[in-house]
Amino acid sequence: MTILVTGGAGYIGSHTVLSLLELNKDVVVLDNLSNSSEESLRRVKQLTGKEVIFYEGDIQDDTCLKHIFDCHKISSVIHFAGLKAVGESTHNPLEYYKNNVSGTLTLLDEMRRANVHQLIFSSSATVYGANSPVPYVETTPIGSTTSPYGTSKMFIEHILQDFAKAEPQFSTIALRYFNPVGAHESGLIGEDPNGIPNNLLPYIAQVAIGKLEKLGVFGGDYPTRDGTGVRDYIHVMDLAEGHCIAMDKLRILRGFRAYNLGSGVGYSVLEMIQAFEKASGVTIPYQILPRRDGDLPAFWADAGLAKMELGWEVSRGINTMMRDTWNWQNKNPKGYHHHHDR
Ligand code: NAD
Ligand code: UFG
Repeated sequence: MTILVTGGAGYIGSHTVLSLLELNKDVVVLDNLSNSSEESLRRVKQLTGKEVIFYEGDIQDDTCLKHIFDCHKISSVIHFAGLKAVGESTHNPLEYYKNNVSGTLTLLDEMRRANVHQLIFSSSATVYGANSPVPYVETTPIGSTTSPYGTSKMFIEHILQDFAKAEPQFSTIALRYFNPVGAHESGLIGEDPNGIPNNLLPYIAQVAIGKLEKLGVFGGDYPTRDGTGVRDYIHVMDLAEGHCIAMDKLRILRGFRAYNLGSGVGYSVLEMIQAFEKASGVTIPYQILPRRDGDLPAFWADAGLAKMELGWEVSRGINTMMRDTWNWQNKNPKGYHHHHDR
């Protein structure tokens, strides 16, 4: 039986495909390469010595999905595909609702037609919105999202719940990721953002190699221990392994379930800078700037439910996150492009 991974060429997807292949699962990837390169999958093959079947296509394309479900015995789907830039989503909400919400509807429709009943969905801590107490716990209702991106994730979770109620055979897990960072320890695959990075760690890493001059710290006056924003960072390989464990749960679950995937611990921006400097030996110049629109002061996960029901918890700490981010950035100063450019 084969697992369809949508968005499998992307950052979290490629690391998860690697983990699945290491468990001897058969994997088909569907990705439109809008935010990734097929090079990630070539490297996954290189690392594992195993094949991945790749389709370049869009989850909004029902014909393409039909073809995949016809040609492969798909038992379950891990659904990463979607757009994820929070700021961009406020300027182009329709693209976000089309790719994320509409794309997921098309996928669900084709899954139903093909009698595929198991789905893992990439949700986000952002569904807890602006008013949830920290640490975030799954029993808190979702809502009050602060961007169209966040709202698209919230809508999809509601759609999945309704669909699971209507289709008793269907089982679906929404994994609410906190802040994914780091890379596979080989340094062969990692995060390769287009243009100037939006997220903290890729930005720091590009300052470290001299590609960017200095880090802007968004806000120094939050009610946190040092005034900077606090987040729950999680190593992407811990996240990848979380998907593999959730796959086992899918087989025995009926209906919809959501799990936080986080460490349960928050770090401030300044603590992240210090930890990176320690791991890399490179000083990161920074400047405190005004707060970024839509940012929350501090949030982290209550990681108890995933531990209790999935038997999953993080095993890689902040030093490993920094070591692996630095290793990837150092080995691939131009991301995945560099091999083709020369
Ligand atoms: P990514 O952009 O690296 O991966 C997403 C992949 O989906 C890309 O390869 C992109 O080309 C593909 N894609 C986008 N739209 C598509 C479409 N319509 N059809 C087919 N493929 C499409 O991002 P990532 O960081 O790996 O995130 C994966 C998922 O996890 C996303 O759904 C994202 O919203 C979610 N998530 C990410 C974070 C984070 O901070 N990285 C946090 C919470 C949730
Ligand atoms: N930050 C800076 N400077 C930067 C980038 C970020 O100071 O150049 C700060 C932010 O203000 C925040 C922290 O670093 O305090 C982390 O910011 P990221 O952009 O890395 O991550 P966010 O927490 O803002 O966003 C993440 C995911 C989104 C998700 C969101 C809410 O990337 O997918 O969490 O859950 F929607």
